[in-house]
Amino acid sequence: MRITVIGCGYVGLVTGACLAEAGHHVVCTDIDGERIAQLQAGGMPIFELHLEEILASTRKAGRISFTPDAGEAIRRSETIFICVGTPPRESGEADLSAIDHVARQIATEARSPKLVIEKSTVPARTGIELRRALTAYTRNADLSFRVASNPEFLREGTAVEDFFHPDRIVVGVEEDSAAAEMREIYRPILEHRFHCPVHNGLCPPGKDAEFLVTTINSAELIKHASNSFLALKISYANVIADLCEKIGADVEQVTHAMGLDPRIGRQFLQAGLGFGGFCFPKDLQAFVYLAAAVGVDFDILKAAERVNKQRIDKFLEKVRKALWVVKGKRLAVLGLAFKANTDDTRFAPALEVVKRLIDEGAHVHASDPEAILKAKAVFPQVHYYEDPYEALREADAALVCTEWECFRKLDWERAGKLMARKLVIDGRNLYSPQRMRELGFEYHSFGRE
Ligand code: UDX
Repeated sequence: MRITVIGCGYVGLVTGACLAEAGHHVVCTDIDGERIAQLQAGGMPIFELHLEEILASTRKAGRISFTPDAGEAIRRSETIFICVGTPPRESGEADLSAIDHVARQIATEARSPKLVIEKSTVPARTGIELRRALTAYTRNADLSFRVASNPEFLREGTAVEDFFHPDRIVVGVEEDSAAAEMREIYRPILEHRFHCPVHNGLCPPGKDAEFLVTTINSAELIKHASNSFLALKISYANVIADLCEKIGADVEQVTHAMGLDPRIGRQFLQAGLGFGGFCFPKDLQAFVYLAAAVGVDFDILKAAERVNKQRIDKFLEKVRKALWVVKGKRLAVLGLAFKANTDDTRFAPALEVVKRLIDEGAHVHASDPEAILKAKAVFPQVHYYEDPYEALREADAALVCTEWECFRKLDWERAGKLMARKLVIDGRNLYSPQRMRELGFEYHSFGRE
C-alpha cells in the first residue's frame, strides 16, 4: 500500500521505516526542513536500535522517501499517519496544535478521499475533533475523510522489535471499511510475512498479536490507560522500596515474589530513581487533566506522579548523607539518558540529578554510551567522558542514574583503584550490596540494606 507519514520524530520515523520494511511504500514529511534534508541525505536524527539499517535497506529498495512538501506527501497516498508531537502545556493538558495544523493541511491539500490515522498519543475525543476539522477546512464538499486511532506501544530502545512483535494492535474506527484497511496495513505483521530485522528472520516462537477493533474513543483511552498504569506500577514499587528501607526488608526480594503472581506480573516493578522520558510523565499528566475535565477523580495518578518526583529528593538525600558536604566534590554521574538503550534525555531523572548537583556546587563528571551530546546541550559545564572509568577517576562518589548494561558490567575493583573515595550511590539497584561491600565500597541503593 501507499502510506504517508506526517511527522518525522521518534514515532513517525519508527512507524514509517517499519511499514516500509513490511513491504509498503512510504513517504514521510515534516515541518522541519532541516530534518528532512538530513534524512534525504541518508542521515539519522535519532538513535534507535535497528532503525538505521532498516532506513538504509528500504531506501535502497525504493520503498521509503522523504519530502519537505506536505501537500505532495498528502496527495501521494490514500492513507495518512499523523505522528506529530503532542507536548504537555503548563497545566498538563496535551497541546494539540500540531494535530490541528496537520488536519488543516490534509483538508486543504487532499484531492481524493483519505483515511487519516492518529498515531500520536492524544487524549480521548481527539478523533472527533480531528474529523470535524477535516470536514470544516476542506474546499471540496464531495471529499470524504475517515478517521482512525492507532495508538503506538513502542518503547524507546526496543521500538523496532515492539513494532514487529506487538502484543496487540489497537485500531479505533467508525466504519468497517477503515478496520479492513488497517488490517491490510498490518497484515504482514499479523501473518509474520516480513523479514525480521531484529532476529534476522529467525524470530523466537511467541504469541500472535491480537488485532483489536474498538471505537476511536476507546482506542485513545487504551493508550493513556496503559501508560498511566505502568507508571503507577513503578511508583508502587518505589513506595515499597521506601518501606523496605524503614523496616529492614529487601525490595528486590519483595517485588520478585510479587511479580511471580501472573495477576501482578514481573515487569515495571524496578525500584530506583523513577520514570522519565517523553511519554510517561506527559501521558500521566494528560490523563489526570482529561479525567478532571470530565469530573472524574484520578487522585491515584496524582499520587504516582508525586512519588516519582520525590525519587530525586530521596536520591539526593542519600548523596548528602554519604558525602556530608556536596559543594566542591567531584562526582561521577553514570548515565544521562532517561533509560538504557536510548540517547533520549527528555525528562530524564539523571539530568535533574545533574542540575541539582551543579546547583549545590559539585563538580560533575558524567558518562553515558549514547546521550552525551544531548546532555551537553543542556549542561555545557559538565565534564563528559565516553569511557566511564575516566569519569570515575579521582571521583569522591559514583552516582548511578541509568540502567545501562555496560554500567551493570563495570569492573568495580578497577574503578575503586581510580576513585578518590570508594563510595557508590546506586539509583537503579544494579549491583549486589554484599558484593560491593566485599570490594570495600560504601554502597547505597533503594530499598536494600
Ligand atoms: C513507554 C511505554 O512503555 C510505551 O509502551 C509507550 O508507547 C511509550 O512510552 P518508553 O517511554 O520508551 O515507553 O519507556 P519505558 O521502557 O516504558 O520506561 C519508562 C521509564 O520508566 C524509564 O525512565 C525507566 O527507567 C522507568 N522504569 C521502568 C522504572 O523506573 N522501573 C521499571 O520497573 C520500569
